[in-house]
Amino acid sequence: MTDHHDHSGRSAAGDELSFDAFDESSDPRPEETGFDLVVEEAVSRRGFLGGAVAVGTGAFLTGTAALTVADARAAARNAARNATGRLAFKAVAAGTDDTVTVPEGYRWHIVVRWGDPLWSGGKAFDPATRGTGASQERAFGDNTDGMALFMAGGRSILAVNNEYTNRSIMYGMRDSMKPENADDVRKGKAAHGVSVMEVAQSGGKWQVVKDSPFNRRITADTPMEITGPAAGHDLLKTKADPAGRRSLGTWNNCGNGRTPWGTYLTCEENFNGYFSSSDKALALSPAFRRYGIRHKDWGYAWATADERFDIAKHPNEPNRAGYVVEIDPLDPASTPKKRTALGRIKHENAELVVAANGRIVVYMGDDERGEYLYRYVSDGVYAAGGNTGDLLDRGTLYAARFNADGTGEWLALTPQTTGMASRAEICIHTRMAASAVKATTMDRPEWVAANPHRAEAYCALTNNKNRGKKPNAGGDAAPVGGPNPRAGNKYGQIVRWRPANGDHTAKTFSWDLYVLAGNPAVHKDDRKGSDNVNPGNFFNSPDGLAFDSRGLLWIQTDGNYSNAGDFAGMGNNQMLIGDPATGEIKRFLVGPKECEITGVAFSGDRRTVFVGVQHPGERGNSHWPGGGDSVPRSAVIAIARDDGGVIG
Ligand code: FEO
Ligand code: CA
Ligand code: CA
Repeated sequence: MTDHHDHSGRSAAGDELSFDAFDESSDPRPEETGFDLVVEEAVSRRGFLGGAVAVGTGAFLTGTAALTVADARAAARNAARNATGRLAFKAVAAGTDDTVTVPEGYRWHIVVRWGDPLWSGGKAFDPATRGTGASQERAFGDNTDGMALFMAGGRSILAVNNEYTNRSIMYGMRDSMKPENADDVRKGKAAHGVSVMEVAQSGGKWQVVKDSPFNRRITADTPMEITGPAAGHDLLKTKADPAGRRSLGTWNNCGNGRTPWGTYLTCEENFNGYFSSSDKALALSPAFRRYGIRHKDWGYAWATADERFDIAKHPNEPNRAGYVVEIDPLDPASTPKKRTALGRIKHENAELVVAANGRIVVYMGDDERGEYLYRYVSDGVYAAGGNTGDLLDRGTLYAARFNADGTGEWLALTPQTTGMASRAEICIHTRMAASAVKATTMDRPEWVAANPHRAEAYCALTNNKNRGKKPNAGGDAAPVGGPNPRAGNKYGQIVRWRPANGDHTAKTFSWDLYVLAGNPAVHKDDRKGSDNVNPGNFFNSPDGLAFDSRGLLWIQTDGNYSNAGDFAGMGNNQMLIGDPATGEIKRFLVGPKECEITGVAFSGDRRTVFVGVQHPGERGNSHWPGGGDSVPRSAVIAIARDDGGVIG
């Protein structure tokens, strides 16, 4: 989900606020005072693990700073052995072209675009109508986001999130640029959710295998099972589902995860913006306020055609969204499961690791200004081929506290620690639980990625204009300090942590910043970024993160693409690759105009990387990928080396 609208407040469509701006517009937050005290605390933090690098007013660690001397020597030896290093490609220059640019020696092509049918009986995308409810239900959804590739007997199954729609594009054939009737709403709901499809190479290009038995559309109307502690709770009961165990649909599916037992995790992020109230005098509960449930929706008009989105009539319906949903991508008849044990937040992604003791650990960010970073730890242990049915239902949620001295701890969210009545309530009102234990308010936690080669995880903190200025939606202070070291943070940073004793279930961890994004061409203070940022690789608003098999970190951006002022020289949104061992970061890809780059998956032979290009032309200034005066369409692309070598 883009957030760059923050800078202008409104898009070219005139009335499409970013989700965050929308949430705050109806719930203005008071100015915060006294945060300067915490700046001093951050400044005093030096010498964590040796070699701290101080930038501007905040003292924190970057690049190689947190590595041991042995790590650094090993990295140097490796670099000497391979003169081209581990980032052996020529960096792509920042740019503003309306296309995708990859390094010399690499090529890309389109795999699937918004509106492309997944079945041969489907209707090809019609730019005059931009589709109908019926055509969209048989076609790839809009705004591609997180994805994962699964192998089944040599066949490649790609599961892809379709996060949301831009109504100026979806309904751009109309003067109003809005949904105007029930079929418009049906189309919009069908453009959300998840697209599961077989892909295969033909003539050197990956394409959708139409009519594959694996192909499936999951939309805002697909039946779901609710599992875990909150299933059956009174807060989840509705007229249509008096048991509180069956809901319809998933929407605003942002990042993803995957399990070692072969399932796909899709994460419901800005689920709130779809609800509205037919009673404009309806009192909004504190929980509605915390989660951004308002009288008005974000412009989707779903309640006009489906009354479950009317909170005046169905006040518990919003409690049935905001979860991580588990999908079996190889069984199109399976019912997706909303795993309430993983909490109800604006879920970005769900990075799952198997801890050394066999427990399942899932790291999750809540992407809103001043919200929290979470961890789930299963009660049971994973064994290949064993029963995995309740590993995501029985366990404990934690929220992260980061201390200024480079240490941190996971705060368990239990009835005892939070004062809340039950685990069910904690799983439904998770934000309030994390506030109760005084976790650290973060600069919009986006994707988490775990290093496959060591017990270490990274989280993109994309930006936070409120840092040091305003509290979060629950009134929790957002002081400058720790992993959130800059007031009014425009550029974002990536924090990483290492669990004590290499154990992802440990209570404590140490942390540092892998990169502090910034613009060294414009600023000399802490806005210039960390030492591993330079005019050759600068970027803003890191968002998507994923490790490849080599232990390199792919970084995707969803930021300000104005290429002016604080963002001069950065160009369009992009994808970079970082080497955690050296701190080096190189730009690998630049996207078309007004897109964000989000979602990454590798083919089974790791010779192709699939990448998502979301909302090109969200302000009306792109015709990618068709060119000419065509309708811009979000798409998944495939990138390979010219020599066919392994890419990740
Ligand atoms: Fe869907 Fe926070 O990005
Ligand atoms: Ca994102
Ligand atoms: Ca984002």
